[in-house]
Order: sequence, then C-alpha cells, then structure tokens
Amino acid sequence: MSNYNWLITHHNAKIKERRLFAKKIMENNPSKIIDIGCGFGLWLELLDKNSNNNTQLIGIDNDKKTLEKATDRAKKWKSQSSFLHINIENQIDEIPKADLILMMNMYGYIKNIKSFTAKLLEKILPNGRLVIKQYDGTVFKFGPMNYYDRQKIENSLMIYKHDYTHYNIDRIWETLNELNPKLIDKRFEIFQRNGPFNRPFQKYFNNEIEWMKGKVSTECKEILSEWIKTVPNSKRYFFETELILTIQP
Ligand SMILES: C[S@@+](CC[C@H](N)C(=O)[O-])C[C@H]1O[C@@H](n2cnc3c(N)ncnc32)[C@H](O)[C@@H]1O
Repeated sequence: MSNYNWLITHHNAKIKERRLFAKKIMENNPSKIIDIGCGFGLWLELLDKNSNNNTQLIGIDNDKKTLEKATDRAKKWKSQSSFLHINIENQIDEIPKADLILMMNMYGYIKNIKSFTAKLLEKILPNGRLVIKQYDGTVFKFGPMNYYDRQKIENSLMIYKHDYTHYNIDRIWETLNELNPKLIDKRFEIFQRNGPFNRPFQKYFNNEIEWMKGKVSTECKEILSEWIKTVPNSKRYFFETELILTIQP
C-alpha cells in the first residue's frame, strides 16, 4: 500500500494551492472524471467539493489496499464514485473514456510515455480534457544553502536508482512535441513557502529531508543533518516547480 501518512502529510502541506487547482479544473463542469493513480482519493475528494450531484468520479490505482481506503473515504462524497484496480501501463485498454482525465504526478511510473499518452488521449470524450501536473526532481530547492553543498546533494540524488523516474519534465515536454496535441494550457507553476514554515508544511518538509537522506552519499547525509541543525525555521525557504498541462485533443 502507498504510505498513507506520507500522502496525507503532503496533501495537507499544499492544501491551499490544491483546493484552488481543484476549483479551476472543475470550472467547465466535467461530468465523468478519472483520476489515474488516485491513491487514497485525495484529489477526487477536492473535486467532489466542487462537483454537482450528477458528477461521476472514478479512481484508478494498481494497489488494492489503497483503493479500499479510497472507497472508505468516498462514502462521505456527494458524487457517485467507483474505483478500478488497474495497472495503467499494462491495462490501458481497460481505462474508460471520460470528460476529464487527471495525471497528477504519475508520469514517473510510466516507462513508455509516448505510446501511453497517445492511447490516453483516445480516452478523452469530445470537448473533454487531459490535465497533467508533474513535479521534477531538478526543481526542488530549499535554502539558504552553500551552492557547492547543494550541487553535491543534487548530483548524489541524481545517481540514486529510484524505482520510478524522478526527472520527468523534459520527457513529457519531448513527448508533447512529438504527439503535438491541442494544448490549452502549458505552464510552470511554483509552489513556495518562506520560513517560518507552519506545522503542516514543516511535517512534509521533514519527511522530504529524511527521504533524501536515504538516497544520498554519507557526506551529503551529513550536510543535510548539519543544515537542519544550523538554519533556523524562521530563516528557511522552499520552492518547487511543476509542469501544468491541459490538453483538449
Ligand atoms: C505518488 S502516489 C499518488 C499520486 C496522486 N495522484 C497524487 O498526486 O497525490 C502514486 C499512486 O500511483 C499508483 N500507481 C503506481 N504505478 C501504477 C500503475 N502502473 N498503475 C496504476 N497505479 C499505479 C500507486 O499505487 C500510488 O497510489
């Protein structure tokens, strides 16, 4: 099962921005919505708050236990909801058609993104949309930090063998250059917090540092531990950039 506490902590740290994003993507009242890699249904829950009684929400994930938890959360939603246990890369033909399909930080799990995206575009109903939101490991910054220390950490993280792709923006961009679908929104969005970090954000930030420590060299681990000890919360900054795409095939 995906790590429930980690995903909830991440969600709560960014809740203000996520609520706004959910509101925006529901502006043209899509009636059938699929969230690919829905996890515990956290995004679907935000969409439900902006939906009407005729909205149909479908969550897809390849983890049964995660979907059980999502099904439980969905009992409180006003929209109709259902969950499909599908491995999106091997069973893409089983993904239904919809007015709105979401790919929220999911490209890291897809190996052949060109054929996957081409097939996904066929799942969009007339006038429907595919919304992609994707982070990238290269644009995840916190500081202030000595430039050489930062570079050491980034290099160390880059050579770690992740079990998914941590660097996705360029591969998505290249895929879109090749497929050339009709894009109605293509931009980078910055998520930012200045110190002092509030408690929900601090919890997420600590998780990220611990995650990083597990993936970098001993020297970098020490740099991170020293940084946490010496840079006070009130003096810190954090920002990351996500690629946001809205496609109307
Ligand atoms: C990072 S988590 C949640 C991402 C979620 N969309 C969000 O933005 O909060 C990724 C989710 O994708 C699911 N997943 C990973 N690979 C998958 C695959 N091949 N098919 C379906 N679901 C997959 C995992 O089980 C997990 O719940």
